Amino acid sequence: MSDEQQHSRVSDEQQHSCVSEYVKVCDVADLPAQGAVRRVELDGEPVAIVAVEGDYHAIDDICSHDEVSLADGEVEGHTVECWLHGSRFDVRTGEALCLPAKKPVAVYDIKILDDGVYVSTAPKAVATELESNAR
Ligand code: FES
Repeated sequence: MSDEQQHSRVSDEQQHSCVSEYVKVCDVADLPAQGAVRRVELDGEPVAIVAVEGDYHAIDDICSHDEVSLADGEVEGHTVECWLHGSRFDVRTGEALCLPAKKPVAVYDIKILDDGVYVSTAPKAVATELESNAR
């Protein structure tokens, strides 16, 4: 195999692995309006797409306090507030900012390619537990 063929093969594998890490979750036309949140599915799991200041964030949709959809909550600044007990989560880090939730939610990388919205299947960050509330 020539160097050029090997290079081409590696490039194809790298491209395939990059593409396979992201799953299309919706069309661009289905993105939430700024200051809103929408629930989508990522490999069968619920994920909340949050639109903040011209940017989009993807976080686990289920509140870490109980089995409640964060997509039914309110967006305020860079946070989503759980509608049931009022815990707020930072959409950039997943960090739980106030009680009663102590644990963070996972955050995923999100890409917009052409007319599709793609979310990484691997969490990019999981914030630490809210230590001040663990006492
Ligand atoms: S269910 Fe979300 S804060 Fe309790």
